This record gives sequence, C-alpha cells and structure tokens, in this order.
Amino acid sequence: MKVLVTGGAGFIGANFVRSTVAERPDTTVTVLDALTYAASRSSVEGLAGVRLVEGDVADADLVDALVAEADLVVHFAAESHNDNSLVTPWPFVHTNLVGTFTLLEAVRRHKKRYHHISTDEVFGDLELDDPGRFNELTPYNPSSPYSSTKAGSDLLVRAWVRSFGLEATISNCSNNYGPFQHVEKFIPRQITNVIDGVRPRLYGTGENVRDWIHVADHNAAVWTIIERGRIGETYLIGADGEMNNVSVIRLVLELMGQDPDAFDHVTDRPGHDLRYAIDPTRLRGELGWEPRFTSFRDGLEDTIAWYRSHESWWRDAKETTEQRYRAAGEQIRG
Ligand code: NAD
Ligand code: DAU
Repeated sequence: MKVLVTGGAGFIGANFVRSTVAERPDTTVTVLDALTYAASRSSVEGLAGVRLVEGDVADADLVDALVAEADLVVHFAAESHNDNSLVTPWPFVHTNLVGTFTLLEAVRRHKKRYHHISTDEVFGDLELDDPGRFNELTPYNPSSPYSSTKAGSDLLVRAWVRSFGLEATISNCSNNYGPFQHVEKFIPRQITNVIDGVRPRLYGTGENVRDWIHVADHNAAVWTIIERGRIGETYLIGADGEMNNVSVIRLVLELMGQDPDAFDHVTDRPGHDLRYAIDPTRLRGELGWEPRFTSFRDGLEDTIAWYRSHESWWRDAKETTEQRYRAAGEQIRG
C-alpha cells in the first residue's frame, strides 16, 4: 500500500510514519511537508520505505501528482500551535483551510481513501465542574484562530463527503505527548526548561485541564479508523487522561528530581480554553480500540528520558522558541 502522509515531519505525523513502516512492511510512505519551523527533517529522513517531498499542501500541482500515485492519504499537515495563531493567524488560514481544500480537490479527482486528522479543540471548552465530555454530537464552538481553522477544515471534509461522495473519515483527538514534539508545546517546553536549569512556566492559575494521550495511542487509533471506520463518520480519540496543568508541571518536576513547586506563573493565554475532555465510547465500542499507555506517569517518564537523550534533536529550536515567547510579551507573575 502507498500512503501519502502530509505533515509527516511534524510531531504526530513523524510518529505515524515511523510506526507505520516499522509495523507494516508492505507499506511505503511519501511524506509531503513544507518543513516549517515546526518540522524536523531528521525525524523521518533516511527511514527505509519513506520518501520525503518538501512542498506546500496548498500547491495544487504538486498535491495532484502525489495524490494520483497514492492508495491512501492521511492529512496531518497543519499550523498547530494556539499561541502562534494569536500572534500571526494568516498561516493557519493558508495551511489549515486552503491546504485542506487543495488536498480534498485532488482526492476527489483521483477517488482516493482519505483520513483527516483533527482536534478536540473544534468543540470549544467545558467548565471545570461540567460532568460531561465531548462526543461526536457536540456542536462546534472553536475559540482561537488555530481551532477555528481546524473546525473549518473538518466542515470542508464533511461537505466533500456529502456533496461529492468522498471516501473519508475524520478523527478528533485530545492533547498528545511523547517523543518528537516541538519544544514550543507545554510538556516538552517544561522538560527542556528543567534540563536547562530554567523554572517551568505555567499560564495563569494552571487550573486548565487537558486530556492527555500518548502519541502512539493516537496513531494506533488512526489506523483502526482507517481500517475499520465507517466512511463519512467522525471518531473522537481520547484515553481518559484528564489532568490540570499545575499537576502536570508538578509531576514533570518530581520525575526530574526537582522541587514540585519550583515553577513560575506567567501571563495567561488570551481566550485560554478551560477544559477539554473526550468521550471515546464510539471508537472503543464500535471499533474495539483500546489505549496501551494507561499510566500517564510512566508515559511522561519515558518522554522525559527521550528528551534527555535526544538533545541534538531539540537544541536548535529551543532558543528561538523562547525568544518567540518573550517577543509575544510573556512575563513572570510570581
Ligand atoms: P506539528 O506542528 O508538530 O506538525 C505539523 C507539520 O505540518 C510540520 O511538519 C509542518 O512543517 C507541516 N506543515 C505546516 N504547514 C504546511 C503546509 N502548508 N504544507 C505542508 N506541510 C505543512 O503538529 P502536530 O502536533 O504533529 O499535529 C499534527 C496534526 O494533528 C494537526 O492537524 C493537528 O491539528 C492535529 N492534532 C494535534 C494534537 C496535539 O496534541 N499536538 C492533538 C489533536 C490533533
Ligand atoms: O487538544 C488538542 C490540541 O492540543 C491540539 O489540537 C493542538 O495542536 C496542541 O497544540 C494542543 O493544544 P493546547 O493549546 O492545549 O496545547 P499546548 O501544549 O500549547 O498547551 C497545553 C496547556 O498548557 C494549555 O492549557 C496552555 C498551557 N501552557 C502551555 C505552554 C506552552 C502553559 O501553562 N505553559 C506553557 O509554557
């Protein structure tokens, strides 16, 4: 099988590409990636069965040629960081909306199977004391330029399914952690801060809750949906991993041998979503998927070990990332 993976040099895409060629010897992968600041060539380059094509998912001619030769298209490429979307929204509109549109048109022309990677952020946020969780029927209510462009891309897919009979599935996953995640994101930022002797940085009060899932579990669920999901359906992916940010920071510090209170509160994110939580009943009940990483503590310990032993992978991005946070006005509050 020939799989076209967009965004395969980013965090989740690279993990998907690596596990796919390792576990499915009959599969070859073409990665289409613009190699933005968020990508790392070294995450996938040189792997047997993988070809890396540098290019923009909104480049219609290139996308047409690559889709034509694929059996399956899995679309991870996106501008993915909320904080960046609050400073410079345009790349989010370009990649997440125009890029998805461009890909869908090629998939329609060539009648290929398509899987769309999306996020739980399309649903907005929940109150801390809300007993409910997001499910496939939750209305869309995105908060940021990032989540609104992801929501728009999901709606394009749904329209292409209904109007043109596109053979597509969609998944909306919660917050991923694991190896190869860019140091701008919460968990790798704090791990690499501690390695550098810098105190971790908590936005606002830190009561915000995220529903953590190991990236390997996300990608296993994606393959389950590709192989067993119903065409035209949406599946929510989550692993019952709700935890507030202050608890995550304390755990990182504890696992790294530091005082769990040795962190700073910094400027809060504007419009900061309070809580995300996924009800994965459809995925588990209908398709029989189960997560393998059931202990966040163990998964986090492995992730810390990975960042300690892969400093050459993240070092170049660290200072530019911290510079970007300073330029955006992040300040220590205490
Ligand atoms: P990432 O930022 O680490 O990687 C994105 C990749 O897309 C990068 O390699 C980048 O170079 C590439 N890219 C960006 N613009 C492009 C363009 N115009 N053309 C081609 N490639 C382009 O993101 P990630 O965290 O790996 O997220 C991957 C996907 O998963 C995204 O669609 C995101 O919305 C979704 N998602 C992420 C999470 C999470 O916790 N990180 C959770 C749920 C869903
Ligand atoms: O829910 C899925 C989403 O998870 C994905 O769609 C996004 O692509 C992904 O980036 C992630 O979005 P978040 O905004 O939740 O992730 P982030 O890692 O930026 O932040 C996680 C939480 O930690 C959030 O409440 C903000 C907070 N935070 C973040 C950073 C970078 C801090 O407290 N300090 C920080 O330094």
